[in-house]
Amino acid sequence: RIQRRNIQYRRDIDFFAPKLIAIFESLVPADEEIAKQKQLINSLNKLISREWPHARLHLYGSCANSFGVSNSDIDVCLSIDEKELGKAEILLKLADILEAGNLQNVQALTRARVPIVKMMDPETGLSCDICINNLLAVVNTKLLKDYAMIDPRLRQLAFIVKHWAKSRRVNETYQGTLSSYAYVIMCIHFLQNRRPAILPCLQAMEATYVVRVDNIDCAFFDDVDKLHAFGARNRESISRLLWAFFHYWAYQHDYTADVVSIRTGTLISKHSKDWTRRIGNDRHLICIEDPFETSHDLGRVVDKFTIKILREEFERAANILQYDPNPTVTLFEPY
Ligand code: CTP
Ligand code: MG
Repeated sequence: RIQRRNIQYRRDIDFFAPKLIAIFESLVPADEEIAKQKQLINSLNKLISREWPHARLHLYGSCANSFGVSNSDIDVCLSIDEKELGKAEILLKLADILEAGNLQNVQALTRARVPIVKMMDPETGLSCDICINNLLAVVNTKLLKDYAMIDPRLRQLAFIVKHWAKSRRVNETYQGTLSSYAYVIMCIHFLQNRRPAILPCLQAMEATYVVRVDNIDCAFFDDVDKLHAFGARNRESISRLLWAFFHYWAYQHDYTADVVSIRTGTLISKHSKDWTRRIGNDRHLICIEDPFETSHDLGRVVDKFTIKILREEFERAANILQYDPNPTVTLFEPY
C-alpha cells in the first residue's frame, strides 16, 4: 500500500476562506439566469406537447443539480414513451419540431455516444442539448441537489474544485480526465468521511424517495430539510477542506485498492467490484462508483497517461495550498 503522509496544515490556512468564498460567489449564476432557463423549458414543453401530449422535458446536469456556474449550456432530457419510433427517429422528429418552432442551430447528433439534439434559443440566448429517456441522469441530478441542500460547504467545495479542474484542463472526459459529475461525487464522498461527518449517506438512510428506472431501484432519504444541521458539529473552514481534499487525492488515496462510493458512504474495495484489472476499455486506475449504476466506474475514461496528469495536478494543488503565498490565485492559473 502507498505510504500515507500526514502533513500539518499551514498555520494560516483559515485566512484564505473568505477569498475562496468570494470566488465561489463570483461563479454562482444570477437568479435571472435560472429564471431564463425555466422560461425556456416551459416554452419548449408547450411546443413538444402539441406533437407528443405525454412527453415531458426535464432539466438535468449542472443547471438543475445546483452545481452549475453561470453561462453553462443546459442539459435537457425528453421522457417519451414511443414504441413505434427508435431513438434516432425520435431525435430527428424532435429536431423538426424545434426548427418549426424557430429555434436556431438545430442539429440532431444521432450517432454520438449519447445521441442528442443541439439547439440555441434566440430569445434567451441559451444553448441546450436534449437527450432521450436518460432518466437515471434526472434521478442522480436530484440526489446531488439534495446533498447540496444539507451543508453549504458542499457547493462551495465543488464549485472551487470544478473551477480548478476547468482551469487546469482536467475536466475533459474526451481527453481522458474526469467529468464534472465525477468531481462532485468525489466532493460528496470526501465530506461524508470528515470526522465529524459534514454529509450523511442519503442512500443508507430510510428511503423517502423511491423510483425504478431502467431496472435499477433508486432509493434515498430526500427529506433534507430535516438535515440542515447535520454538519454543524464540524466547523472546518472551506480553505481547510479544500486543502484536505487535495491532500487526500495527492497523498492519501489508495489508487490500487479503493473505490469511492457515495452509495455506501465509505470506501469500498476494488476487489469486491472486480475492478482490479483492465476489462475492455475500462482501466479502473481511479475508481469512482456511480451511485445508481453501480457497475459504472466514473473513472473508466482515465488511462495510464492521464492518471499521471491527474495525480500531478492533485499534488500541485495540494502543494500550492500548503506553501504558496497566494494560493487562491496560483491554484487557478491556466494550464
Ligand atoms: N451524467 C451521468 N453519468 C456520467 C456523466 C454525467 O449520469 N458518467 C449525468 C449527470 O446527471 C450529470 C449530467 O449528466 O449531472 C451532466 O454531466 P456533466 O457535464 O459531467 O456535469 P455538469 O454538472 O453538467 O457540469 P458542467 O457545469 O461542467 O456542464
Ligand atoms: Mg453540463
